[in-house]
Amino acid sequence: MIELEQQLQSARAEAERAVATCADLPSLDQLKARFLGRSGIVPAALEQLGKLPKAEKPRIGKLANEVKTAVTAAIEAKREELEAKAASSGLAIDVTLPGRRHHIGHLHPLTQIFERTVEIFRRMGFAVEDGPEIEDEWHCFDALNTPADHPARDLQDTLYIDDKTMPPDREYGRYLLRTHTSPVQIRTMLKQKPPIRIVAPGRVFRRDELDATHSPTFHQIEGLYVDKNVTVADLKGTVEFFFKQLLDPETKVRFRPHFFPYTEPSFEIDLSTPQFRARGKEWIEIAGCGMVNPNVFKAVGYPDDEYTGWAFGFGIDRIAMVMWSINDIRLFTENDVRFLEQF
Ligand code: DAH
Repeated sequence: MIELEQQLQSARAEAERAVATCADLPSLDQLKARFLGRSGIVPAALEQLGKLPKAEKPRIGKLANEVKTAVTAAIEAKREELEAKAASSGLAIDVTLPGRRHHIGHLHPLTQIFERTVEIFRRMGFAVEDGPEIEDEWHCFDALNTPADHPARDLQDTLYIDDKTMPPDREYGRYLLRTHTSPVQIRTMLKQKPPIRIVAPGRVFRRDELDATHSPTFHQIEGLYVDKNVTVADLKGTVEFFFKQLLDPETKVRFRPHFFPYTEPSFEIDLSTPQFRARGKEWIEIAGCGMVNPNVFKAVGYPDDEYTGWAFGFGIDRIAMVMWSINDIRLFTENDVRFLEQF
């Protein structure tokens, strides 16, 4: 037996053995290249046919073609087998299975109230203003007629930034996490002249223990309206319209005299909705407001006696608790989906 004949027969045996144990399609492709590819074993043998003695050519030529056909058939049979296996091993879709439910999220309840509040005030011609959460003492207190010995400024009540991290500013004093959104009033009045009509939603911080009704971080929306001849009647009408829109057309609003350094006179706002009345609870205290104190106008350099204005600060967490009868403020920051998905 001549050498080429031997080569062809052992190539066939080797190919059939390798194909039989081949377990995946990529290795099958490699086998195909090795035996049948352009520089593969079988084509290389076919090329040598030309050098054979004439008498041997037909026999070896026939053998070479048989080997080629057999190896090709073995590889293609294996390919079908492997492809069928892949199709039945989980890649197929079983249309009889129930569908998988997609959970689509929604806005946080506090964000929902912020958005509705802003929307109602926008309709009345108010613009939205923003201010920094890290404030300085001047914007947060002094400019708001709140003197250095006021309890709100005490270390016990306010979260100051460490002096080494952010040393006090020579003009504006120490830095702190803003205790209310009222400094946005100051920032707005410093950058524009009346008429001013703005609301400023945002997060505020106080040194409070965390319990069902207190949190070191909560949310407010500030309002400010400054122009010529603005009166308490405008304030009361606006506040009443807002709460009727937000809560219920039958909502009643009551102003009680109070004290805030930056407004004079100042009021606390109490609410009564049909829902509370049905539960036997009449008034709920919800916010603070008043007529802008002339000292605040002085701080921002407005001319004496030219303007009047009103301001308010609403607690958003408190409004949400009232709206949805939520009894624990911690729920807003705990991110428990069982709570959040109810809104
Ligand atoms: N800043 C007050 C607070 O944090 C709320 C407030 C009261 C804001 C009266 C005002 C206002 O603008 O006029 O409790």
